[in-house]
Amino acid sequence: MNVVVTGGTSGIGAAVVRELTNKGLQVSFIGRNRERGQAIAKQTGGQFIQADLSLLHETHQLATYLNKPLDSLILCAGGIGSKSTPLVTSEGLETLFATNYLSKVVLSQALLPQMTTNASIVMVSGNGRYKNASTAWQTAEKGLRGALKAGLALDLYAQQLAQNQPALRVHTCYPGMVQTNLFQQMAWPVRVLVRMFGQSPDQASGYITRLVYSRHEGVHWQKTKPIQLDLPVTGNDLALELWNYSHSILADYQ
Ligand SMILES: NC(=O)c1ccc[n+]([C@@H]2O[C@H](COP(=O)([O-])OP(=O)(O)OC[C@H]3O[C@@H](n4cnc5c(N)ncnc54)[C@H](OP(=O)(O)O)[C@@H]3O)[C@@H](O)[C@H]2O)c1
Repeated sequence: MNVVVTGGTSGIGAAVVRELTNKGLQVSFIGRNRERGQAIAKQTGGQFIQADLSLLHETHQLATYLNKPLDSLILCAGGIGSKSTPLVTSEGLETLFATNYLSKVVLSQALLPQMTTNASIVMVSGNGRYKNASTAWQTAEKGLRGALKAGLALDLYAQQLAQNQPALRVHTCYPGMVQTNLFQQMAWPVRVLVRMFGQSPDQASGYITRLVYSRHEGVHWQKTKPIQLDLPVTGNDLALELWNYSHSILADYQ
């Protein structure tokens, strides 16, 4: 089986790379950090590819480079922003919206023709509660607000992709709170909380890879349970508006 994992240089994605390579799968994984990427490639036998997924032109280039048949696309790359994260990228897009959401649209759309029969796309997501999330897609939001908006966009996209591509298995999975580098730049009480109550990346990897291996009904998952999204307004209208907005942006960066 050929698998591509984004965010494979740290945390949940790195655990997925370790688990799948241990099982003998051919894994290519993506991240920006060359040192960590090369170390994980050496440990696991996976293929490291360096790319910055906040930049649409790099994400398009990556998709062209990944030209093999694909059995699973596992999209873990993302962040929650910190003081050092720029609000907008050099392409003028909100950084978290571009990294956590748009890169997943670009990769999943571009790689569709290469997906084998019964292939899966699994995306790490938020907890499906978005009552207070902004739906002002075109306005750059800071920090957690930006992450929440990108999370909502991702869940809406997954729902639409699953509808449009019934032959594919499309899932999002919220793994709960996981002890990773994600919280490194947050206040110390948050870091302590995560250290005390967070799960290990290996546990999180297990929730994601079960969706890769076998057929499960339902798009959105919280660990091993299917969940309903708590959408701020009618899901279909919002999904369509987002779809049109996203495709207008992507057309500019082809
Ligand atoms: N940890 C949790 O409790 C939790 C809960 C729910 C959802 N999530 C989501 O799970 C995903 C993975 O997070 P994690 O907890 O595993 O955090 P992490 O340890 O910080 O890993 C994040 C991964 O994403 C990659 N990444 C970030 N920005 C990138 C960019 N611009 N281009 C390419 N790769 C990029 C990082 O690679 P480089 O540093 O090499 O670029 C790294 O491999 C995130 O989307 C996060 O929001 C996490």
